[in-house]
Amino acid sequence: MPNNHNDELIKRKADHLRLCASDRVKYTAKTNGFENYEFIHDAATETDISAIDLRTLFFGHEINVPFMISCMTGGTDEANNINLKLAAAARELKIPLGLGSQRYLLESNDLVHHFEMIRQEAGDIPLVGNIGAAQVSMTENPDEFSILVEASKIDVLAVHLNPAQELFQKGGDLNFTGLMKNLEYLANHIEIPVIVKEVGSGISGTTAARLLETGVKGIDVAGAGGTTWTGVEILRNGGNSSHNFWNWGLPTSYCIRTVHELKMKYDFLLIGSGGIDNSFDNARALALGADITASARKVLQALLEGGTDAVINLINGYFEDLKKIMFLTGSSTLSELRNDKLIIKSELF
Ligand SMILES: Cc1cc2nc3c(=O)[nH]c(=O)nc-3n(C[C@H](O)[C@H](O)[C@H](O)COP(=O)(O)O)c2cc1C
Repeated sequence: MPNNHNDELIKRKADHLRLCASDRVKYTAKTNGFENYEFIHDAATETDISAIDLRTLFFGHEINVPFMISCMTGGTDEANNINLKLAAAARELKIPLGLGSQRYLLESNDLVHHFEMIRQEAGDIPLVGNIGAAQVSMTENPDEFSILVEASKIDVLAVHLNPAQELFQKGGDLNFTGLMKNLEYLANHIEIPVIVKEVGSGISGTTAARLLETGVKGIDVAGAGGTTWTGVEILRNGGNSSHNFWNWGLPTSYCIRTVHELKMKYDFLLIGSGGIDNSFDNARALALGADITASARKVLQALLEGGTDAVINLINGYFEDLKKIMFLTGSSTLSELRNDKLIIKSELF
């Protein structure tokens, strides 16, 4: 990799980690929408809380709770140290771990040893690799992405769709011509399942239907209300939260609700993410139809504050509370939780 490219990559990764360690990169005029929903309390619950089983299948792998650590970082020593700690937490929790963009692996195998370390730390939990829509659209040889599977022993490949972020990133890629054609090739030829994800601006039901037609096996909506990635790039360019596009995106709850409707027609894994920062939003995302939930910045912040143990405690806390919510809503299984256990708040009054 040429040095100026390398320097820019190192700086960008460091900026992303630094900005996401703080709360400066939150939406200011938009929420994920979950506050509009209330759980329906069941005074006559017969759910046996001690018998609730949250184990779920993630592309054939059994995981302990329906949650994954969203794709974040990689490509520098600092990023690799973070991934190793996240891998230790994910292994202990028996949940999937998402890796940050692996674009650099297409250009050089200098960092293959990072992935050997991560796989060793992660044991046999599912690892989700990551590549950008820009790389998928511009490739002349979609088979080249097999390098990622070989070099990093990933079980699933996530393609991130981030047009809003690219629009505000200096030198961002703005030509996505060929995306759907290449995505279709990739989804049908690479040896592992391909999923697509946003990075915080959300995937609507309409967009998800087009994506599912290509053969991708999962949609991570990564909706608005948590980290704003236009915001991250606006701050990197010296702007601030009064920028017109700071709050761009579709709220996570809307995305989950509309993408979930596609379950009638397509068989796919629906990942609910984007501002899943507390037990109740986690539970409401599952109740609205997410098969599993995911979180990025909140997990990163826990890691930076209290290491691997803090991540384990955060996620265990979400699922201890989930069991309480299932008990109080009379939901003995996750599918019962998804069956009319939420009410829109305005209907309560
Ligand atoms: C430090 C950091 C780096 C990220 N890098 C990537 C990336 O390389 N690829 C990707 O698909 N998403 C990346 N994301 C986006 C997250 O996966 C996630 O979709 C987004 O932050 C919204 O979730 P949140 O509100 O829980 O943070 C990154 C997020 C963080 C916090």
